[in-house]
Amino acid sequence: MLPEVTATRYVTPLREGGSLPGIVEADDLGTYVMKFTGAGQGRKTLVAEVICGQLGRRLGLRVPDLAGIQLDPVIGRAEPDQEVQGLLKSSGGLNLGMDFLPGALGFDPLAFEIGAAEAGRVVWFDALINNVDRSWRNPNLLVWHGELWLIDHGATMIWHHNWPTAQAAAGKAYDASDHVLATFGPDVAAAGAELAPRITEELLTEVTADVPDEWLVDEPGFADPDALRRAYVETLLARATTIGDRITLGERSKDKPSQAPEWVRVRLDGRAGK
Ligand SMILES: Nc1ncnc2c1ncn2[C@@H]1O[C@H](COP(=O)(O)OP(=O)(O)O)[C@@H](O)[C@H]1O
Ligand SMILES: [Mg+2]
Repeated sequence: MLPEVTATRYVTPLREGGSLPGIVEADDLGTYVMKFTGAGQGRKTLVAEVICGQLGRRLGLRVPDLAGIQLDPVIGRAEPDQEVQGLLKSSGGLNLGMDFLPGALGFDPLAFEIGAAEAGRVVWFDALINNVDRSWRNPNLLVWHGELWLIDHGATMIWHHNWPTAQAAAGKAYDASDHVLATFGPDVAAAGAELAPRITEELLTEVTADVPDEWLVDEPGFADPDALRRAYVETLLARATTIGDRITLGERSKDKPSQAPEWVRVRLDGRAGK
């Protein structure tokens, strides 16, 4: 179970990405980045955030803590932005919170350097969950206290948008050519050797148990939330055994960024979870 808190104040929207998450304060005095159940992408985005966020953390990658956030839309009464008002109004009840990392910088591949081992772990993990949202255009990585943190796992496990074809879709290869860490020589072979054996049925059952029932009910073809949790477990379990051999690290697409000189780069040492 995720810890659950109640939002006490809507602070401000975050406009970098596409889904307009908001910074909120909660009754545990924490500050969270809140992803709304009423956002256009729907509750499957939140399911993906929980499963992939919890899985990443269990594999030793840095992902900010997640929590369920109860929202009473009334806390946004004074918010002048129509779009934000709409989101708050349609998101009463349980939403997803990610611990806000104050002062974190967006990862810039021209300004920071990552070792091959750590880059390999991130790329292998993204291949497993089929993350299409960690490109150099939109890294969804933060640098905080000299270390790399993974955020935004909403656009992953594309197969969960069409369960009847999920096994086939989850069997497909992963093209990492545009991955933001592709130029750091990611050692995906070493990462796979280390991580694949750790993707067990037991671990996946634990991380899927963290998804609240209310985001899983009424999925066509599934009797109850546990049946749907099993489908997530089975697709990820099957993918873990073979995905390492099917990661493409080819040429980047043409509009690639230019390389920065060595002297402007900061090397992140990746102390934890080397
Ligand atoms: N835990 C966090 N701590 C600090 N800043 C964050 C955190 N999560 C997200 N952000 C900031 O908010 C932006 C949007 O969040 P993100 O999860 O990527 O949502 P979107 O779905 O809109 O892309 C990020 O690019 C980042 O700048
Ligand atoms: Mg994002």
